[in-house]
Amino acid sequence: ELKKEIGEALLFWYDHNARILPWRADKNPYRIWVSEIMLQQTRVEAVKPYFDRFMEELPEVKDLAEVDEEKLMKLWEGLGYYNRARNLKAAAQTIVKEYDGKLPDDYDQLLSLKGIGMYTAGAIASIAYDIRVPAVDGNVLRVMARLLGDDSDILKEKTKKEMAARVMEIMPDQRAGDFNQALIELGAIVCVPNGEPKCSECPWDTVCTAYREDLTGRLPVKKPK
Ligand code: ADE
Repeated sequence: ELKKEIGEALLFWYDHNARILPWRADKNPYRIWVSEIMLQQTRVEAVKPYFDRFMEELPEVKDLAEVDEEKLMKLWEGLGYYNRARNLKAAAQTIVKEYDGKLPDDYDQLLSLKGIGMYTAGAIASIAYDIRVPAVDGNVLRVMARLLGDDSDILKEKTKKEMAARVMEIMPDQRAGDFNQALIELGAIVCVPNGEPKCSECPWDTVCTAYREDLTGRLPVKKPK
C-alpha cells in the first residue's frame, strides 16, 4: 500500500538535488544507452571522461557499428569488462540493420539486443522515451529494501521482481525516466550502502521503515551465494 505521493516527493527532491551529468543533458537514446552500459560496473566520476570522449569519437549509432576493434578498445581502455564494448558494437550493428539506426522505443525489442538486460532496457525505455517501466539496479534494491523494511535477499531474482512491482506502485504517471533516475540518485548520494546513510537529507525520512525502526545498518540483506 505504498502511495503515489511518495513517488511525487522523490521527483521533487530530484528536481532540486540531481547532479548535472553529461548523459542527463538530453534524451538522446544512443547517449543514454552508452552511459548506462558504462555505469554498470564503473563509478559515475570515472565514467564521465570516457563518456565524453566516446561521444566525441562515435557520435551516432552508425559510427559505433562501423568502428574498428582497435579504436573501440582504445576508447574503452581502463573501464574494464571489455565485453561490454564488444556487445555495444554488436548491438549497434543490429540497430543499423533492423531499426534504421534508431534505438527501438520498445522494452522487449531493447531487451533482445546484445548486452541489454532488464535493467538497461528499463533505463533506456524510461529515460529516453518516458515509457512507464522499472529500472532496478543495486541502488534501487537498497533504497526499496530500506523504505519497505524488507529483509528479503536482494541477490535473489524473485526479490528483484517483487521490488520492481513495488517501484511501479509509487512511480508517478508522468516522468518515468526522471523517477527511475531519482531512485538511483537517492541510492547514490543519500541512501548510501556503507557507513551512515544521510537520512536527514532524505525526502522519505518520515515514511522509511528502516529509518523509523533504526534498521538501515541491517538492510538490505545480501546472502553470499
Ligand atoms: N547509474 C546507473 N544509471 C545512472 C544514471 N542514469 N545516473 C547516475 N548514475 C547511474
